[in-house]
Amino acid sequence: MATTPAVKTRFTTEDDITAEVVRRFEGTPDARLREIMVSLTKHIHAFVKDVRLNEGEWWKAIEFLTATGHICSDKRQEFILLSDTMGVSMLVDLISNGKPPGATESTVFGPFYRDGGPEMPAGGNMAEGAQSGTPTIIHGRVVDMDGKPIENAVLDVWQADPEGLYDSQRPELEELHMRGVYRSDAQGNYLIRTTRPVHYQIPSDGPVGEMLRATNRHPWRPAHVHFKVTAEGFQPLTTHLFDDVDEYLDSDAVFGVKDSLICGFPVHAARDEDAKKFGIEPPFATAEYDFVLAKA
Ligand code: BEZ
Ligand code: FE
Repeated sequence: MATTPAVKTRFTTEDDITAEVVRRFEGTPDARLREIMVSLTKHIHAFVKDVRLNEGEWWKAIEFLTATGHICSDKRQEFILLSDTMGVSMLVDLISNGKPPGATESTVFGPFYRDGGPEMPAGGNMAEGAQSGTPTIIHGRVVDMDGKPIENAVLDVWQADPEGLYDSQRPELEELHMRGVYRSDAQGNYLIRTTRPVHYQIPSDGPVGEMLRATNRHPWRPAHVHFKVTAEGFQPLTTHLFDDVDEYLDSDAVFGVKDSLICGFPVHAARDEDAKKFGIEPPFATAEYDFVLAKA
């Protein structure tokens, strides 16, 4: 006599699928990975349901992510750029690098850091050979939270050139440019010579640029200089100094501006005291900023 097969009920409503995917990840042995995968599932499913994502849109998203991967190379990281322009890099920075009140704040690292910047004496010119741009002195102190000088702090500095390009964006340039590694002296003083930073566009010839154009967003970053400041016994600091007159301070394409990192870059048109002190001919700009490091 034929027996009736046991009926296995499969739940296939929108909410059932979410619950089942979550259930499968619940056996993940690593607790943190489990937490991340379960939460990611819930959020992605909620997003898809929220916007009622259709198949054509899903396919467009797959093509976008595929193109994002294809354009990546050892000189280009489009996924970081995507994270930056979605504000995710700044969120992760805020979560990971929260500094105690009084310490200098951090901001995005960006994709243009390169190891091996040249060691510079105090006042050494990291814009050597630049054909344009306003010569600029950036100076100040590296101090602890009590204002005491930190000697021998390392300031790894990089910026775009006066035409708004990083050295790695110039295929004809083999060597590093607009980079330098400086050290603070016994009083905590540092002294950098460069050119005044200019605002520039983040790379927008790839999928991220396409996304910005489709959403009516601009690709500009306000003028800034990058710093990675390290000293023994202190928390490392990755940050920028922003020029206080820049027109893109309120609409940075990657959301990196913090009020405490905005700094004046006054231009000196005459042979004034600063010209004599820094041994520089006008016109030039100066910027003064003290980096405050928190104990490790
Ligand atoms: C930068 O400042 O170098 C940068 C940061 C995020 C995205 C693109 C560039
Ligand atoms: Fe930059």
